[in-house]
Amino acid sequence: MSVLTKLIEQAKNPRGFVGASMLCIMNAAHTNMTRWALSNVKINGHANVLDIGCGGGKTIHTLSKMNQDGKIYGIDYSKQAVENSIKLNKKDIDLGKVLIKQASVSAMPFSNDFFDIITAFQTHYFWPNLENDVKEVFRVLTSNGYFIIAAELYKINYHMRKFKTKEDIEKLLKETGFSNVVFHEYRGSICIIARK
Ligand SMILES: C[S@@+](CC[C@H](N)C(=O)[O-])C[C@H]1O[C@@H](n2cnc3c(N)ncnc32)[C@H](O)[C@@H]1O
Repeated sequence: MSVLTKLIEQAKNPRGFVGASMLCIMNAAHTNMTRWALSNVKINGHANVLDIGCGGGKTIHTLSKMNQDGKIYGIDYSKQAVENSIKLNKKDIDLGKVLIKQASVSAMPFSNDFFDIITAFQTHYFWPNLENDVKEVFRVLTSNGYFIIAAELYKINYHMRKFKTKEDIEKLLKETGFSNVVFHEYRGSICIIARK
């Protein structure tokens, strides 16, 4: 396996010491994109928010600051990512404000219509079956809730075979049941906001 393939595997499913180090690097490297993506939405202070593919946990930390009286949940299917995220958010976890679980986007351990906002940053291009996984997101999102995807365009182009274009992803989201889909672009990144 080439070094590049190994690094991509670690970004997709971080494991062990290398994975833990990559999660710290991703926390720093994705900060600007995350801030920009979140600047496109308004979060009322009492929202139930879920971050899917939470990685090193920085987005959860940012969301917790933005959502003073709400609750932030994070999931990631990587054990290492869950460990790193728990470490970074320990204070808010102890306060009962943040909850982080190991789970896949394909079968989330949450009831229907639970979250007001769901974020997925630099992760959807790794999901195993986007049609099914978007349906799962729709299921746990409350009526009028927002699903926010953000990613660098070159990663979408590199990793995805289907749903690379705005037209295709908009069609998928609308066919799933989302009523409104809006796109923002900034410095090589895209932010897609879909309303249930
Ligand atoms: C490139 S990292 C991005 C992490 C974080 N969102 C960020 O912006 O820094 C991708 C993350 O998505 C997670 N991931 C990939 N496929 C997933 C799936 N099917 N279900 C849950 N998490 C997944 C990986 O384990 C990894 O932590």
